Amino acid sequence: MSADEQKRATGEAALDYVEPGKLVGVGTGSTVNYFIEALAGIKDRIAGAVSSSQPSTDRLRAHGIPVYELTEVDDLPVYIDGADEITPGFAMTKGGGGALTREKIVAAVADSFVCIVDESKCVEQLGAFPLPVEVIPMARRHVADALAGLGGEPVLREMRTDNDNDILDVHGLSIANPQALESAINDIAGVVTVGLFTHRGADHLLVGSPNGVRSYHANERT
Ligand code: 5RP
Repeated sequence: MSADEQKRATGEAALDYVEPGKLVGVGTGSTVNYFIEALAGIKDRIAGAVSSSQPSTDRLRAHGIPVYELTEVDDLPVYIDGADEITPGFAMTKGGGGALTREKIVAAVADSFVCIVDESKCVEQLGAFPLPVEVIPMARRHVADALAGLGGEPVLREMRTDNDNDILDVHGLSIANPQALESAINDIAGVVTVGLFTHRGADHLLVGSPNGVRSYHANERT
């Protein structure tokens, strides 16, 4: 199975976590796009979706799936999203697609987070993938200096986020303690969101592999 076929298989497997008659939180990225395609097949059996980005909202609506604002929602049983890297302890780096802030907000509201990846995303330690940090534009230089002080090499991404902020991609970090680093970066004035998802990590992980989709629950992965 190619990486793309693995992504499709995990996107389809994630349907098992969608609760009939309820809303589903939908993340962003190529793996999630396969999930949205699969979700379209059961759209009459769900209440609709809450989306973490404009591209996912557009895609959901194109499939005829109603999209609700998070502020309108009382109950969000599950959030399905991909990751750029994930460790055996379910700490993740996210934000390769630039949607990290809305992703972190929807993940915080959902009762359960199901992460869907191909097996290339599974790592022993985070850091090979540059760590995205969304920053208020006027703080860009201050935040970049602080990130350099933490040992990283920040590079400004050529895009603005859905929230009209900048993204610094931090290269060269060796992330031995992702929880401590998430807190430290959150503490820098001007940081909106860091793409480390450790305080609210995944609850379930679906990994596409050449032999099919393997599923794990938090702290049960071997
Ligand atoms: C977007 C994300 C994505 O979940 C992450 O980049 C993985 O994307 P893909 O499924 O395309 O590999 O965090 O901000």
